[in-house]
Formats: sequence, C-alpha cells, structure tokens
Amino acid sequence: MPLRMILVGPPGVGKGTQSSLLEARLGAKPLSSGMIFRAEIDAQTDLGELAKSYIDRGELVPNGVTIQMMLKRLRTSEVQQKGFILDGFPRTVRQAEALDEELRKAQIDLDIVVSLEVDDQVIVDRLSGRLGCTKCGAIYHRLNKPPKREGFCDNCNSPVIVREDDNPETIKERLRVFRENTAPVVDHYAAQGKLVRVESSRDPEVVYADIVAGIGS
Ligand code: AP5
Ligand code: MG
Repeated sequence: MPLRMILVGPPGVGKGTQSSLLEARLGAKPLSSGMIFRAEIDAQTDLGELAKSYIDRGELVPNGVTIQMMLKRLRTSEVQQKGFILDGFPRTVRQAEALDEELRKAQIDLDIVVSLEVDDQVIVDRLSGRLGCTKCGAIYHRLNKPPKREGFCDNCNSPVIVREDDNPETIKERLRVFRENTAPVVDHYAAQGKLVRVESSRDPEVVYADIVAGIGS
C-alpha cells in the first residue's frame, strides 16, 4: 500500500530532511508547499509573485491559492500510485479541513500525521546554518551536513545558497506564525487519533527510525 502521511512542525525542524529520507527509502512522493512556491517564484509566475510577497515577510500565503495548488498535485496519477509525504501543508485548520474533505471524497485514509518537535534555540541554529540546492532542493547545513565541495550540491553540482527567508527577523516571524496558525493543526489531527509526536533534536537517522516506528504502530 502506498504511504500517505503528513509531516508538520515549526520552521527548520527537519521536515524537508525527513521527507527526502522517506522518499528515498519508502518511495512516496514528497509534496512541500514551500518548495512548490519557491519553484513558482523562480519561474516568475503570477502565483510566484503573490507567494513571494508573503514568504519574504514570513507570513502565510492565503489559504485559497495554497489549497488549490496542493489539491491539484494530490490528484496526479503519480501521487495516487506512489502515495505522498505532505511537508508544510496543511498549515492552518482551514487547510486541514479542505484536505480532509478531499481525502474523504477520494476515499483515501491518512496513515499517519507526524509532529516533529524541537526547542526554538535548536531551530535558530539549524536555520542560520542551512544551505539549499538551487536546482534539486537538497538540504545541507554549514556545520552538521556540509556539501562535499564547498558551495555546490553533492547530487547535481548546482550552487547551494542561503534561503532569503532564513534571516533572524523572518525566522522570528515564521515561529510566531507557526504557533498561532499551525499548532492548532497538530491538535486537529490528535483529535482524529492520527498523530504521532517525534522529538527531533536528535540525529536525523534516529528521528527517521522513530517516524518509521510510528508508521508501523
Ligand atoms: P517552508 O519551505 O515549508 O518552510 P518552513 O516550514 O519554515 O520549514 P523549513 O523548510 O524552513 O524547514 P524544514 O522543517 O523543512 O527543515 P530542514 O529539513 O530544511 O515554507 C516557507 C514559506 O512558504 C512559509 O513561511 C510560508 O510563507 C509559505 N508557505 C509554505 N507552505 C504554506 C502553506 N501550507 N500555507 C501558507 N503558506 C505556506 O532542516 C533545516 C536545517 O536543519 C538544515 O540545514 C538541515 O540540514 C538541518 N537538520 C535537519 N534535521 C536535523 C537533525 N535531526 N539534526 C541536525 N540538523 C538537522
Ligand atoms: Mg522545508
């Protein structure tokens, strides 16, 4: 059976890192709303221009366009065959309700919702050292996981850069927005009995093992 899961958690907790391990080992399709928005920004589309005005400030892109964008991707045949790992969506209770409705109509059951959790100081350390590939999106860290050749991606050799929203002011706002809008999404899925909490300050492989144990439970 294809895996259908949601990763929820504050900025920098490791959603993208775990999503890529899960894709490589379990074969489900990662769907990161943040990455999709950044691709739209790079392609200079109207959606990209709209998204940028929110992302640069650490605010949420409006629910309407975000829901439409993500549901469209969930309906593709690739996702129906492989399953999905949602990263960064849903991020508001309104988005969670729209997703519930979509899955109910398609008669799809979520396997698990994983809430990744760490202290704020760990988040600041992780985001202030993060580097990301401009082409394939691979995630690095200056100290914890540097690319083998400085400045270039191990996978595709493209330049790795600091994300524009990884500056101290925007990180602070993203954390505030998470607490106000996304923490209630965790409660939403806890009430459905789907939630597993994973302490994410440990090594990525240890976090991964806990997630996989959660899927099997
Ligand atoms: P998005 O791209 O989703 O950003 P985010 O939620 O802030 O999360 P990040 O991507 O910053 O962190 P992550 O949890 O993926 O951590 P990572 O694995 O990279 O969203 C960006 C913006 O888009 C939002 O602010 C909003 O404006 C908009 N947006 C997106 N979705 C939206 C939605 N649904 N609705 C409305 N607006 C939306 O790891 C971080 C660093 O830590 C890396 O350097 C990594 O190497 C390191 N690291 C990871 N795990 C570990 C570990 N276990 N130990 C040590 N280091 C680790
Ligand atoms: Mg991410």
